[in-house]
Amino acid sequence: CAYFEKGQSLKGKHFVVTSGGTREPIDPVRFISNASSGKQGTAIAQSLLDRGAKVSFIYGASDVPPPPGADAIAVGSAQEMYEAVHQALPAEGAIFCAAVADWRPKQAGREKIKKQAGATDAPSIEMVLNPDILKSVAQLEGAARPQLVVGFAAETENLVDHARAKRQRKGCDWLLANDVSPEMGTFGGDQNKITFFRSDAPEEWDTMSKKDVADKLADAIATTFKGS
Ligand code: CTP
Ligand code: CA
Repeated sequence: CAYFEKGQSLKGKHFVVTSGGTREPIDPVRFISNASSGKQGTAIAQSLLDRGAKVSFIYGASDVPPPPGADAIAVGSAQEMYEAVHQALPAEGAIFCAAVADWRPKQAGREKIKKQAGATDAPSIEMVLNPDILKSVAQLEGAARPQLVVGFAAETENLVDHARAKRQRKGCDWLLANDVSPEMGTFGGDQNKITFFRSDAPEEWDTMSKKDVADKLADAIATTFKGS
C-alpha cells in the first residue's frame, strides 16, 4: 500500500541535515546570530525519517526541538557545525538548511567584555570569514561526496539570478531558494515560498507549509534514490 511505500522509500539511506542558526561568540555571555527558527530543517529531517531514512541532524539555535528518531547533535558556532557535519559523513545525501553565520568575531573574549568607566565610545568587533560547510561537502571527491547535496539560498532581492549563481558557486546538486524579505515572514513563520533548482531552470513551487515543502523535497529525493 502507499503508506508502506512511503515508510520504506529511503530505508537504508543516511542523510545529514543541518538546521537552525549558528551562534558566534563575542565573549562568554554574548554572541552574533540570526533569525532562523529551525522549522524548515526540522520538518525536512522528519520527512526523511518518515520515509525510513537514518538522519544525522546537526542543529544550532532553534525554536523547535529536533525530531525524535534522528541522531541529533547540538552545536553552537559555524566551526562546530562544520566539524560535526564532517564527522557525521559518509552519507548518501546532505541537506543544508542551517542559517550559518558568514562571519565570526576574530577573537572571542575569555572574560565578559566590560564597559570602561566613563567611556562614551563603544568597542568595534573585528570579524573573520567562517568556513562554507555546504561548499566543503559539495566539493568532496569520489565516494566521500554524498550522491545528493542540497542547499538553500536565502535571498531578499534578485532571487533567481542570485540563487542560480549560488548553486554553481557552491557545486550543490539541488538548491531551494526562498525569499526572506521581512514582508514574506519566512523566518520564524510556518509557510515557505520555494524556487527550486535542479538545473539552471527555476521551478516555482506554490506557497505552502514548511511541512509540505519538506514532504515535496523528500518525495523528490526518494524518487532519485529509487532502485539505488
Ligand atoms: N552555508 C553553509 N556554510 C556557510 C554559509 C552557508 O553551509 N558558512 C549554506 C547554507 O546552509 C545554505 C547555503 O549555504 O544551504 C546558502 O546560504 P546563503 O547564506 O544563502 O549563501 P552564502 O553563500 O552564505 O551567500 P550570501 O549570504 O552572501 O547570500
Ligand atoms: Ca550567508
